[in-house]
Amino acid sequence: MSKVTVVGAGNVGATCANVLAFNEVADEVVMLDVKEGVSEGKALDMIQTATLLGFDSKIVGCTNDYAQTSNSDVVVITSGIPRKPGMTREELIGVNAGIVKSVAENILKFSPNAILVIVSNPMDPMTYLTLKTTGLAKNKVIGMGGALDSSRFKCYLSKALNANPNEIEGMVIGGHGDTTMIPLTRFANYKGRSVSDLLSDETLAKVVSDTMVGGATLTGLLGTSAWYAPGAAAAYLVESIIHDQKKIISCCVYLEGEYGQNDICIGVPTLIGKNGVEEIIDYKLNDNEKALFEKSATAVRATNNILKEINVL
Ligand code: LAC
Repeated sequence: MSKVTVVGAGNVGATCANVLAFNEVADEVVMLDVKEGVSEGKALDMIQTATLLGFDSKIVGCTNDYAQTSNSDVVVITSGIPRKPGMTREELIGVNAGIVKSVAENILKFSPNAILVIVSNPMDPMTYLTLKTTGLAKNKVIGMGGALDSSRFKCYLSKALNANPNEIEGMVIGGHGDTTMIPLTRFANYKGRSVSDLLSDETLAKVVSDTMVGGATLTGLLGTSAWYAPGAAAAYLVESIIHDQKKIISCCVYLEGEYGQNDICIGVPTLIGKNGVEEIIDYKLNDNEKALFEKSATAVRATNNILKEINVL
């Protein structure tokens, strides 16, 4: 019996729950939200798709009733407010930090062994905050930003190459911020052929900048944060844990010396299996990539410091 809880049944959380149920990633999917009736309503709506889509996962919705989340294997935290057009993810920290901290505490009362997947923004500081305030082992707190950013990178590469996105490999590391993410063009390839041999420097630079502002572009179009890809990215990560797929996914994890960094949660390639983070993979960055990573880490660290200034850490 596998059980996954998604906290926050907004656009991202509900999409994640829907993907998890539809793909039968878990036997039971619980959604919990603070708004009366929202989780229950979305759960009932999803349950009514079971016979149309042919899935058997059980779906439960509840309002703030953490007992319903008991013994979850994985808990996805999407709680908090999303950004509005023109806002950075970092501007959400004041509101979202307190919410994420109390959600994690409540969850662990009922699921002490759960692996936590952090989606709430700003995602890197929220992952750091969760790790530090829960005292969980570092393999059990995983931020999902890199999975999403890598999927956006592959999307823009596929458009530039006019190719099937599923034939493309691409990884984005660093922070999940408009100026902190690092699409690793040197490692990106189309069926083994390096994208830098297939695209001009100018086109590749455009792919990189489009990827970095991928979330902001959608916020501008939608008037709020995106949800299909963020929800699916969280579900992709959950699936690698629940089914012990051992996929290599860029995730925000705690570093102790890896990539030259200490005491920070930031995106790096990780092997994700039933124990959560099972390995941090060393991509052997060149000097230019190392410099970008250092700069990204400095920016993430500056946002982490706000957690202390506002007394949540
Ligand atoms: C995005 C938000 C969810 O990148 O961080 O769309």
